[in-house]
Amino acid sequence: MPPGADGGGRELTIASAASSLGSVDEVAAALAGQGYLADRSLATAVFLGADLELPLLLEGEAGVGKTEAAKALAAASGARLVRLQCHEGMDLHHALYDWDYARQLLSLRAAELTPGGAAPPELFGPEFLLRRPLLEALEHPGAVVLLIDEVDRADDEFEAFLLELLSDFQVTIPELGTIRAVGRPLVLLTSNRTRELHDALKRRCLYHWIDYPSREREAEIVRARLPGVPEAIAGRVCAAVERLRAEELYKLPGVGETVAWARALLALGDPEAPLGETLGVALKVREDIDRVRESGVLSGV
Ligand SMILES: Nc1ncnc2c1ncn2[C@@H]1O[C@H](COP(=O)(O)OP(=O)(O)O)[C@@H](O)[C@H]1O
Ligand SMILES: [Mg+2]
Repeated sequence: MPPGADGGGRELTIASAASSLGSVDEVAAALAGQGYLADRSLATAVFLGADLELPLLLEGEAGVGKTEAAKALAAASGARLVRLQCHEGMDLHHALYDWDYARQLLSLRAAELTPGGAAPPELFGPEFLLRRPLLEALEHPGAVVLLIDEVDRADDEFEAFLLELLSDFQVTIPELGTIRAVGRPLVLLTSNRTRELHDALKRRCLYHWIDYPSREREAEIVRARLPGVPEAIAGRVCAAVERLRAEELYKLPGVGETVAWARALLALGDPEAPLGETLGVALKVREDIDRVRESGVLSGV
């Protein structure tokens, strides 16, 4: 029986990751210490999620810093980051646990071949259990930030399962019994909003929408990510990205692209390098690149 399972097993205590996040200002400072600049509204949402032990749902366009927020939060609070990357068709064997069939078979064969006949192995015991991210987060004895990333990619059944997990932080594995976390991991869910999540799931969570940063804020982020970057580069790429985001493009550049663009100009060693020649750092759709070149929207930047 694994730790934390019902029936006399030792119960796990999961320390809250909130210990070093005692106020909104402390959250913002701790994240900044990891090179992540959070708005006050985001820092407030993170603080409340930790303090009220509520999952936090971060929604926003691709590249606005949702995943990075969870990584920075784990690093800042000394918690282990456990990440579940969601995808279509994901089931509990990807998300929660599986059985190591190959090792089960080997161990059966080994028992058969033992002269005198060894006792058959306990095939559905902890020894053959493969712990996937959700189980790992429940069982980890220390502080955990559980990142359930891009939950909008998973399907309905998985959302229903999550709802259950997030309400009582326990799971039942038929062969092993119920495994529960005594303390709660700090849970962050992210969604790129490729579809609406169910109301029931949203009701369980605090909600925060991360917007694209203002030009000034984005320049601060570039400076935080690339210490010592010349002002000419940081200011320039942020001005360019601000203009691109006002265009009707298939895919707008995220903050990651802005940082990458600054890095590209650094690599070229020329802050004045024509932006049109490095557009592929920021835009990844051919029609978008053509459109921006033709419209001249970046002229003068
Ligand atoms: N507020 C921020 N502070 C520092 N870096 C940021 C911030 N927002 C985004 N980034 C940068 O942008 C990149 C992309 O962010 P990411 O979290 O992957 O986006 P998302 O998960 O929303 O698609 C990160 O790797 C990070 O370098
Ligand atoms: Mg992400």
